[in-house]
Amino acid sequence: MKVLVIGGTGNISRGIVAALQHRNHEVVLFNRGQHKDPPPSDVRIIHGDRQQRDDFEAKVGAEEWDAVIDMISFNADDAASALRACQGRVGHFVHCSTVMTYGPPFSGINLPETAPLQGESGYGRGKVAADNLLLEAHAQDGFPVTIFKPSYTHGPGMNLLRQVGGDGGWIDRLRKGKPILSAGDGLNYFQFLSSRDAGFAFTDILGRANYCFGEIYNIVHPQARTWDEWHRAAADALGVDIEIVHVSQETLIAMSPERFSGLRGNFGHTQIFSHEKLAAALPEFSPQVPVTESVAENIAWMDKHDLVPDSDADDLEDQVIEAVRNLPRIG
Ligand SMILES: NC(=O)c1ccc[n+]([C@@H]2O[C@H](COP(=O)([O-])OP(=O)(O)OC[C@H]3O[C@@H](n4cnc5c(N)ncnc54)[C@H](OP(=O)(O)O)[C@@H]3O)[C@@H](O)[C@H]2O)c1
Repeated sequence: MKVLVIGGTGNISRGIVAALQHRNHEVVLFNRGQHKDPPPSDVRIIHGDRQQRDDFEAKVGAEEWDAVIDMISFNADDAASALRACQGRVGHFVHCSTVMTYGPPFSGINLPETAPLQGESGYGRGKVAADNLLLEAHAQDGFPVTIFKPSYTHGPGMNLLRQVGGDGGWIDRLRKGKPILSAGDGLNYFQFLSSRDAGFAFTDILGRANYCFGEIYNIVHPQARTWDEWHRAAADALGVDIEIVHVSQETLIAMSPERFSGLRGNFGHTQIFSHEKLAAALPEFSPQVPVTESVAENIAWMDKHDLVPDSDADDLEDQVIEAVRNLPRIG
């Protein structure tokens, strides 16, 4: 198949490109050519900025595509532009949405695709608007869209996240044997899918026209992990021991709203989404990459791009740990 990936050099889309090439598809990318990691040398690139609507639509609309995977559509305007560019010229259009359409706040755990769309973030609302516009085009004109909703997907192209923050300093702390913070009891659940595995789901859904058009699929790791299990996976990948210090979310936010405000949103919540619909649609899809391997790859990418800062230069985490340990307590 001739497949266009809009994006293609980012975190998830890099995994998609690798999977498409593994399956011997002809891959074309549309991006601005600004990403710090170059694409594979044997991939054709159409350079452009999708926000320059006329140019984007002319370039994408100039060719016929067996499939288009849109990785950087965040609102109804982006989706409408992709629709103008692709309608009548694409056999299958996969739109990348997000589980942040469901929350926070989330209406439960193991949420299926039919869960209420109550995500309050601008990001989540923008994705809902994009999804709805494309689903409407499917209902009215048969636009061949499939919507994928990933949860946290890790791999080269993005820092390895932990619950209390997105900077890479925690990797340096682990390497130096320093304790790391974990919010609450460390038992909030998340699903951690590698971008390499995600790439195969995006690739292998292509062409399943008879049942996946007009459908939404969560794309998540079938197994939930606690954040503490995730922290331990990072320590295992680094080959170091780990000391975890649990401090409640409220305490962390009170001590540094700036540093820990992410706990007020996405990262303060257990997030588990059902994998069942995708498992029925793609029974052969099952994540293959061992977590220590995908985490090690992610850390190697951070090292390569100097994204693991010296934790000695930032003592907030030590201060929080010391303050909590030294609180006057009963007993
Ligand atoms: N990672 C997660 O945990 C997660 C979870 C849920 C959903 N998602 C969704 O996954 C998608 C992100 O995919 P990704 O990880 O591959 O992206 P990414 O890491 O953010 O990379 C963005 C890609 O798009 C290109 N790009 C950015 N702005 C552009 C523009 N204006 N015009 C043309 N190209 C542009 C970039 O290349 P240039 O800079 O060279 O243009 C790059 O190839 C988003 O839709 C996000 O909502 C991610």
